Amino acid sequence: MNIRDEFIKFFEKNGHKQIPSSPIVPENDPTVLFNTAGMQPLVPYLMGEEHPYGRRLCDYQKCVRLTDLDEIGDKTHHTFFEMLGNWSLGDYFKKEAIGYSFEFLTKVLNIPLERLAITVFAGDNKIPRDEVAANRWKELGISEDRIAYLGAEDNFWIAGESGPCGGDTEIFYFRSDDDIPEKFDPSDDRWVEIWNNVFMEFYKDENGNITELKQKNVDTGMGLERIVAVLEGVDDNYKSSIWSDIIKRLEKISGLSYEGNEKSMRIIADHIRTSVFIAADPAGIKPSNTDQGYILRRLIRRYIRQARKLGLLMESDFDEQIALMVIEKYEKYYSELFDNKQVVLDVLSSEKKKFVKTLEKGLREFEKLVDMDTKVINKDIAFKLYDTYGFPIELTLEEADDRGMKVDLDGFYEKFREHQEKSRTASKGKFKGGLSGNSEVETKYHTATHLLNAALKKVIGPEVHQLGSNITPERLRFDFPCDHKMTDEEKKQTEELVNKWIEEDLPVEKLEMSKEKAIQSGAECTFIDRYPDVVTVYKIDDISMELCGGPHVSHTGELGHFKIKKEEASSAGVRRIKAILE
Ligand code: ALA
Repeated sequence: MNIRDEFIKFFEKNGHKQIPSSPIVPENDPTVLFNTAGMQPLVPYLMGEEHPYGRRLCDYQKCVRLTDLDEIGDKTHHTFFEMLGNWSLGDYFKKEAIGYSFEFLTKVLNIPLERLAITVFAGDNKIPRDEVAANRWKELGISEDRIAYLGAEDNFWIAGESGPCGGDTEIFYFRSDDDIPEKFDPSDDRWVEIWNNVFMEFYKDENGNITELKQKNVDTGMGLERIVAVLEGVDDNYKSSIWSDIIKRLEKISGLSYEGNEKSMRIIADHIRTSVFIAADPAGIKPSNTDQGYILRRLIRRYIRQARKLGLLMESDFDEQIALMVIEKYEKYYSELFDNKQVVLDVLSSEKKKFVKTLEKGLREFEKLVDMDTKVINKDIAFKLYDTYGFPIELTLEEADDRGMKVDLDGFYEKFREHQEKSRTASKGKFKGGLSGNSEVETKYHTATHLLNAALKKVIGPEVHQLGSNITPERLRFDFPCDHKMTDEEKKQTEELVNKWIEEDLPVEKLEMSKEKAIQSGAECTFIDRYPDVVTVYKIDDISMELCGGPHVSHTGELGHFKIKKEEASSAGVRRIKAILE
């Protein structure tokens, strides 16, 4: 049975129109790197805009979630997955939605009732417990014992911090041969969540205020990988039919068996699949050091490291073989894989070549520098590997781990920061030690640069980012991609925006977070590979969020008046602005 097709057929029969999967890189939403749920491309319609396909929709949507990146390698996590979903845009609500889910699971997929259990929103001080949902489940034959009422942490759904949202009801399946307990305990991990029905009737704004939406919507999501594994009775997703041929091929290429090498094989399989989908996306993502390109680079480099662990030869075409299997498997559903096949293969092979070079050089130095008799790699060596040989700190950690050694990570970060500070001062050409009078002015220019970057994104387009920047006490300089000379109007708008934000005296917040989290939350980062795992992010209200060593002023009001002095070509497709604060 092809669950994807059965799902669409079932909802079409019930008056839904299938909509095509949106690209994996959102087209009109610069706040997220990838679509992480089926509802994401539908936000305007959940808010009340009319959808050209009507008020009942269904689809399978390509999604990438990176919050679990470090968990990839276990039985159930994936960076890419497909989400099956059905939506009511102000049409049916709880009763019908629950009815559809129940019918699909028990009649189409033939899941026995006794294997199902449900969580329902218990309510909070603003929203009452969802009796409608609970009663509907009981009406369909779910016993009271199999319903758990949970709070907002578990049963209130929102994508990110603000947007359409609502209480939800989640369907669980008992995945074990043990006797099925009468009473449902959601913390018992033999129960796995398979489907979520969100009743999107609220909107949460940036300040956390909740208001009612114009219409009551239903948004559901069922992860394809999970439901397939459940139905096939395997507790390791990678043993399901979605992955088993790929794992078999990895066994064949490596001459090793899956048992004992699960982690590496899962990471290779998962990351190649995700890389294929990202590289094939119409957005034309290439490995780079920023945004989606950085994620693609990171994924490719991670699977290469695992492949080396398995002893796969870097000159071999192991990656191409797996990529071609992925393309063949999915091209019927996602035609961009077929259309961009060569692009995908080229991206994978050229990034592999680049990385292998770095890796080989770094490893040679690692062997030379590290005294294998010690238990700890000291901060100087860790930093030298990173700074002189471009060997990422993650790799040093892994290589150390393989040898039963530790790395002085705190020391590494300390050196990293010192170095950042030094090179910043050195590049200013005026290292005087301590805070001189000049640095105060320069601090202002740092913050002004972030505002300028944000303003240009609004005036020119979201593709603007920092390609280069230089600050002296007299001015700032900023290079960014742009295919035309800026018009006077564009320059004026940019100045006005920056000055408006200065007048609003917005707070500049300094946040510390993991690199992964920074990227996921949309922080702009140039040369991300050069940053350690814990990074500093400067956030200016909702206007700008950039990974940056600082320093910055604490409020934009301190900046004075911003003025563009010059706008010129820096190189092909790159413009340069020089601006001052008066
Ligand atoms: N949007 C809901 C989810 O992703 C259905 O779980």
